[in-house]
Amino acid sequence: METTAENLREEVRQRYAASALAVTTGQAGCGSGSCCQDDGAPVFGEALYEAEQRSALPGAAVLASLGCGNPTAVAELREGETVLDLGSGGGIDVILSARRVGPGGRAYGLDMTDEMLALAQANAAEAGVSNTIFLKGVIEEIPLPAASVDVIISNCVINLSVDKAAVLTEMARVLRPGGRIGISDVVAEDDLTPSQRAERGAFTGCIAGALSRDEYEVGLTAAGFDEIEVTFTHNVADRMHGAIVTAVKTREAEQRGLPIVRQAASAGCC
Ligand SMILES: C[S@@+](CC[C@H](N)C(=O)[O-])C[C@H]1O[C@@H](n2cnc3c(N)ncnc32)[C@H](O)[C@@H]1O
Repeated sequence: METTAENLREEVRQRYAASALAVTTGQAGCGSGSCCQDDGAPVFGEALYEAEQRSALPGAAVLASLGCGNPTAVAELREGETVLDLGSGGGIDVILSARRVGPGGRAYGLDMTDEMLALAQANAAEAGVSNTIFLKGVIEEIPLPAASVDVIISNCVINLSVDKAAVLTEMARVLRPGGRIGISDVVAEDDLTPSQRAERGAFTGCIAGALSRDEYEVGLTAAGFDEIEVTFTHNVADRMHGAIVTAVKTREAEQRGLPIVRQAASAGCC
């Protein structure tokens, strides 16, 4: 089958539908379709959360965790704020955020995979949080109005996008001026070419589609962010890292073209 952006997105959707079903049917674990490495090192998933956070969550939310960091640990969340989690999976970061913003705030989870949305909704109900809203859709076209969100978080999802430029532009659109992002993602060192990234792991496994640090910084600047920081936290492959990406939407965020990000996104994915 020809590798088009649509086919690739469908491959991603099928892989994470299988991960969600593995949790629902008690088959979860590395090899079940998750973003896991098989060398025993905890570079993805629940081990990246504090034991105290895990113990206060439904078991299925913890088991479904497929991230490469803990964005709720870096995003500053205040009472009453609106948070959006891009690619919310089994809902772990939405539930943690909902508790942080309290009953006067709300936490949206956006995901394209029905099986993940069903799992997340069940987990939020079990966790007893009532200020979560799960939306079906793609992160390249966020189904929320402009300037409606205070904080965007995301955990190991932007690398899976077939159009990173669209994601960064959409993040700037839905954030209020001065809004913040706190994102965990896989990020490559700048000298690693897209084909070298692809040699290190599959697109659906969160490796081949990773942006480099420079591509992230240039793309976020072009989308209208400043105070950008990309911090490597742990290795996930040779010269590729779990990273925390933080930035603030500029007050006058002007939308511009993103040639470098577009180039990287297509080179890494198709
Ligand atoms: C690696 S998992 C991470 C899930 C969750 N953030 C976590 O930390 O456990 C990727 C998730 O992103 C979703 N996803 C991937 N690409 C997407 C896209 N373009 N739009 C919306 N959801 C997407 C998948 O369905 C899956 O639930």
